[in-house]
Amino acid sequence: MKTFIITGTSRGLGEELASQLLNTAHHVICLSRSKSEFLQQKAEEKKAPFLEIEADLSNAESIPDLMEHIFSSIRFENLQGIYLLNNAGTVQPVVPAELASAGEMVQNISVNLIAPMVLTSEFIKRTADIPAEKRIMNISSGAARKSYEGWSSYCSSKAGLDHFSRCIAEEQKQRTNGIKCVSIAPGVVDTSMQEHIRSLEEGKFPQQNRFIKLKEEGKLYSPSFAAEKLLTVLFDDHFGSEVIMDIRDA
Ligand SMILES: NC(=O)c1ccc[n+]([C@@H]2O[C@H](COP(=O)([O-])OP(=O)(O)OC[C@H]3O[C@@H](n4cnc5c(N)ncnc54)[C@H](OP(=O)(O)O)[C@@H]3O)[C@@H](O)[C@H]2O)c1
Repeated sequence: MKTFIITGTSRGLGEELASQLLNTAHHVICLSRSKSEFLQQKAEEKKAPFLEIEADLSNAESIPDLMEHIFSSIRFENLQGIYLLNNAGTVQPVVPAELASAGEMVQNISVNLIAPMVLTSEFIKRTADIPAEKRIMNISSGAARKSYEGWSSYCSSKAGLDHFSRCIAEEQKQRTNGIKCVSIAPGVVDTSMQEHIRSLEEGKFPQQNRFIKLKEEGKLYSPSFAAEKLLTVLFDDHFGSEVIMDIRDA
């Protein structure tokens, strides 16, 4: 049995990642503020071990108890692998930095950076003595590596996620059966996040036309294509040999 803890599974890329993992040999544990009926139905059809938890990951203080609950549901006998996929994310606020409120900035960094950091810390602690394969995949963005006007919170949070991943990889490389960690950009994916970007009031985001054009020209990845590529990377024998990745190069 392999166990997967995936965040941001109520829609978009996370829902598709979870969906592709649902089978009788996998225990899939999902975290979002809302549930996915699609995943519930698919898990029933496939008779796949599945746990969906409603949680607001912007509340970092609640994450240790959440992980306690999650780990109490995991069967450790014959566990072949355990995987954390930090996928939940938000692009908001999309405004020049001086127009973002303190609360909007805190929300962005909490979901995109602090939650993956605390989840990772809890995951490391709770799997230290587990002799199974242990991997963390952080869903980053091209915005971690290139600056965009209007996305200062988003770009900063994802750049932080990349650098956090580098540190974790460095720390874990010294450990016996340490965790392998990758931070990977998924390309431009046709999800509600892209819908939100296209629907912003004109003039709010200078790069908006680039994303509208990508959609019109059919150049967005479908969530199923992006998820398939991400899972190919996750299960690759060389996972972790490169920490910072982009599925467009993988
Ligand atoms: N789409 C793209 O083009 C693109 C490009 C580069 C990187 N990415 C990254 O890919 C990941 C997935 O993005 P997506 O496009 O699938 O976005 P999406 O369609 O907006 O889905 C975001 C997911 O994150 C969850 N989430 C947001 N805030 C949360 C919170 N406070 N607590 C718990 N869960 C929360 C949402 O669930 P609830 O609202 O139910 O909580 C939802 O399931 C993100 O990290 C994003 O930055 C996307």
